[in-house]
Amino acid sequence: MIDMHCHILPGIDDGAQTIEDSLALLHAEQEQGIKKIIFTPHFNPERQDIDKFLHAREKSFDALKNADGFSDLAFETKLGCEIFFSMHLIEMDIAKLAFENTKYILIEFPIMNRPYGITRTMQSILDRGYTPILAHVERYEYFTHDPIKLYDLVSMGCIAQVNAAAVVNTSNVKGVNALQYINWEMAHIICSDAHSIDNRPPNTKAAYRFVEKKLGSQYKDWLIKNSRDIFSNRYFDEPVIQKPKKFLGRWR
Ligand SMILES: [Fe+2]
Repeated sequence: MIDMHCHILPGIDDGAQTIEDSLALLHAEQEQGIKKIIFTPHFNPERQDIDKFLHAREKSFDALKNADGFSDLAFETKLGCEIFFSMHLIEMDIAKLAFENTKYILIEFPIMNRPYGITRTMQSILDRGYTPILAHVERYEYFTHDPIKLYDLVSMGCIAQVNAAAVVNTSNVKGVNALQYINWEMAHIICSDAHSIDNRPPNTKAAYRFVEKKLGSQYKDWLIKNSRDIFSNRYFDEPVIQKPKKFLGRWR
């Protein structure tokens, strides 16, 4: 199993603060059956200098690699980041921000308001041969209330990620929930987005089990295959998806 959205590198963002925090999170990842990890600290192109960020990420990763017990965990790891959406991505060197040795790039959006320029920015990334992975799509009300907006981005070639915690929580969700997106094959991967043991721990196992129980093992297998393809930089073969339709007040 692979986790490709998590905040485990020490002291670089609002995730793990110390090496001990990182190691505790890695042990928890191992208990979840995770064998491969892409570390994705937050990066905001409007507030941070890209080269300073990359240097800080390297330093943080070096500290973790040299920590007692890290190599015993035997993870296969890559470096990545979770980029806060900005139209600056149009002119930035996105090769530096993609998951290591891949053409995949993880991007999050503001929670409340759909920002100006999403379609144009995503198209410019796709035109350069990179595939945007849209982080935790279940969080944005402008998608959950109008999933056609996400459908349009996925139809362009973007990939959508949902958080494991959201997959198992199908109650009290306004609009479309994470499981529904998977059922529509509009969300392609599950990740933990782990930040800390107490607050947001690694938790993908329960989410995969829930998908298997509710939708069937072929959905779980599809999600796992998608993660493997991304990690290995294989071409992502997206299914032809049906456009969601509103019927009797509900998206189906
Ligand atoms: Fe995140």
